[in-house]
Amino acid sequence: MKKTILITGGAGFIGSHLVRLFVNKYPEYQVVNVDKLTYAGNLANLKDVENKPNYIFEKADIVDAELMFKIFDQYQPDGVIHLAAESHVDRSIANPNEFIFTNIVGTTNLLNAARKCWANQFENKRFYHVSTDEVYGSLGEIGLFTEETAYDPRSPYSASKASSDHLVRAYHHTFGLPVVVSNCSNNYGSFQFPEKLIPLFINNIRNLKALPVYGKGENIRDWLWVEDHARAIDLIFHSGANGDTYNIGGHNEWTNIALIKVMCTIMDRKLGRAAGESEKLITYVKDRAGHDLRYAIDSSKLQRELGWTPSLQFEEGLEKTIDWYLENDAWMKQVTSGDYQNYYEQQYLNR
Ligand code: NAD
Ligand code: DAU
Repeated sequence: MKKTILITGGAGFIGSHLVRLFVNKYPEYQVVNVDKLTYAGNLANLKDVENKPNYIFEKADIVDAELMFKIFDQYQPDGVIHLAAESHVDRSIANPNEFIFTNIVGTTNLLNAARKCWANQFENKRFYHVSTDEVYGSLGEIGLFTEETAYDPRSPYSASKASSDHLVRAYHHTFGLPVVVSNCSNNYGSFQFPEKLIPLFINNIRNLKALPVYGKGENIRDWLWVEDHARAIDLIFHSGANGDTYNIGGHNEWTNIALIKVMCTIMDRKLGRAAGESEKLITYVKDRAGHDLRYAIDSSKLQRELGWTPSLQFEEGLEKTIDWYLENDAWMKQVTSGDYQNYYEQQYLNR
């Protein structure tokens, strides 16, 4: 059946993997990518699908309520998968306001647009909010975040995502909007903006630049390959229970310093450097303000109820990811030089 799925933030890191998956896997769907193209949005991430007949791009800011009503009216989406967000914790510490506008006001605008568009006819409709494990706060040395863990966000980023999760659930309880929420751990893979730990450090190792490790490097993150996250979103979107929440994680905890040392070892080998050469770039710097100690996800509900498991072992995924960045230096150069921001004008406005 022909369906229209509106994906927000589709030009970003996770969004571009999800758009690619949907466009290729569901030729019967019309996939509408709504993205403002902030510094984190890059249409070059979607070069391989941009000319597919079932793909449409709309440059739009979700903070613009009237524009969201207009876009929903125009496309009449059957489903919404909402990823657009300000996503980087350090930026939220430097400038929280943008996070409030996009993550809270933007999400509310989409909820209002969906409600209006669907006019209380909710059969076969779904609003999926893609969220983060950071809403649960920080773990000590033991324990895992489950779907029942109380919210305890600590950064402006996680507070804004927690707020948007609450609003999505409130629209379900109050207005009956069919929603589903997932909270995922740290993603890694291709097309990630090089402000996040893994691509930033790959680029710095390659270019013999300092590796700024916050604090003692003892904070722990639970890493998941981005394509496994996209597969989980696909599964939850199609088969998750109405109003429900699913945690997604890799059962793959690493201290930052252990992860960084593995990256250095792999890259010494790939770049033909003497063993231990890249580790010399490690530089301990001032800790991130309010730095959460440990995240770790219990994703057993998703495994049990929907049969999802991560497909890739971390060591294999990390090798693959490092290879991708090494082979796609043109992408890295385009992103770090800011050139990618002309791509929309070149590809879309001039044709
Ligand atoms: P990203 O920063 O790479 O991409 C965000 C995208 O949203 C960009 O394309 C950007 O242009 C777009 N966007 C930002 N503000 C917008 C606005 N006002 N209107 C329209 N578009 C706008 O983010 P990501 O890492 O791909 O994360 C995507 C989603 O997944 C976010 O909601 C994030 O909170 C969540 N998440 C991320 C991770 C992770 O490890 N990266 C883990 C769990 C959940
Ligand atoms: O847990 C999911 C979250 O993971 C997502 O919701 C966020 O959108 C995503 O950005 C990510 O947040 P983190 O803050 O965990 O990711 P980041 O890559 O910024 O940092 C990972 C760890 O590495 C963290 O403990 C901080 C540390 N770090 C990061 C950078 C950029 C450093 O030590 N040095 C650095 O330069």
